[in-house]
Amino acid sequence: MKVKESDKKFLARDLPAEDLEIIKSDGSFLFDSKGKKYIDFLMGWCVGNIGWGNKEIKKKISQYKCPDYVNPAYLYKSWAELAKLLAQITPGNLQKSFRATGGTEAVEIALQAAMSHTKRYKFISIEGSYHGHSIGAMSVGSSDFRSWYKNLLPNCYKIKPPLDDKAADQLETLLKEGDAAALIMEPIVCNLGVEIPKKEFMSRAQALCKKYGTLLIMDEVATGFGRTGKLFASEHFGIKPDIMCLAKGITGGYGGLGATIATEEVAKSMEYEFSFYSTYGWYPLSTEAAIANIKYIVKHKGQLEKNTNEMSKYFVDRLSHVKFRYPAKIRAKGLAIGVEFEHAGYANQIVAKAQKSGVLFSPLNNKIFTLFPALNIEKKVAKKGLDILEKVAL
Ligand SMILES: Cc1ncc(COP(=O)(O)O)c(C=O)c1O
Repeated sequence: MKVKESDKKFLARDLPAEDLEIIKSDGSFLFDSKGKKYIDFLMGWCVGNIGWGNKEIKKKISQYKCPDYVNPAYLYKSWAELAKLLAQITPGNLQKSFRATGGTEAVEIALQAAMSHTKRYKFISIEGSYHGHSIGAMSVGSSDFRSWYKNLLPNCYKIKPPLDDKAADQLETLLKEGDAAALIMEPIVCNLGVEIPKKEFMSRAQALCKKYGTLLIMDEVATGFGRTGKLFASEHFGIKPDIMCLAKGITGGYGGLGATIATEEVAKSMEYEFSFYSTYGWYPLSTEAAIANIKYIVKHKGQLEKNTNEMSKYFVDRLSHVKFRYPAKIRAKGLAIGVEFEHAGYANQIVAKAQKSGVLFSPLNNKIFTLFPALNIEKKVAKKGLDILEKVAL
């Protein structure tokens, strides 16, 4: 049976698979089973931040002699090393990491930690957002999810973008009741096509959360590890979160892993009171991948940030000269780039045509496409991909 048929018969999906069988990845390129080469402007949706096939990281992972598996109750050197690394590089006073398998679990732990710490059960988040696919994560995601699952968590309130002073007023009205466990949001909302909050919103959000005893959870699953031009997007606003959720770029695609890092106080409040057990959380090989990837990013931070910011300007400049058929709003922070149209369906057409012509990126909500190229993408590769995008947009 061919892959396509087997997939259709045995793999459960929400949408049918694309007719694209990936067999190889290298740098900013993917290759399909027919031998076709694609420029990857998607990078697994904020996963492959430093490009695919990084030799230094692959060598480190393959040489490491780790145990096949370690029970979560035992000590394991690499867990301590990764946790220490995360405490060193994350902003503010984040110190203790919970082990997770990916972003959804990292968010789920954060929500439970907030409830455990505050003894409150109300959440505030950004309307239309996405934080994962568990019941908890969907409860703080877009209100649309409630049309699929009627009984998501109650008491989840949403702030509507734009995230400006008016939105901060709305937030204050909700916080004033004194019963919100946490505000959870992406500091740059990639899942809304790169919605960039106003600085006033973010600084007021931080101050208001503090004032009303509400925790601030920054979901940096997509934005973390350099995506927006800083190691963490919270840094653009000087945010010191109480909890941060990490996954995706934490391993750069070289393993599957998530983390929820909290302040000492938040983590402490969960001791003996909070139950979490993740059999495959921080699986040894994935832990090695995360350590190697983070060390690489930290070592090359200056260079990666420089390229991210230069390429960001280049993408924005090129996109703003594309003769799109409908008016486009272009938003970018580092190499998180969103293009939004009033006209529904056009973004999807561009994505489909670009794919046929050898460039990969993804649509969002029918009106947006997002680009998340590798932070070390070469200008000539970016140019080639954008030349194609320009042509297919006509
Ligand atoms: C901001 C954000 N949070 C959480 C998640 C869930 O992560 P995962 O797919 O690893 O469960 C995603 C996934 O796209 C995300 O973008």
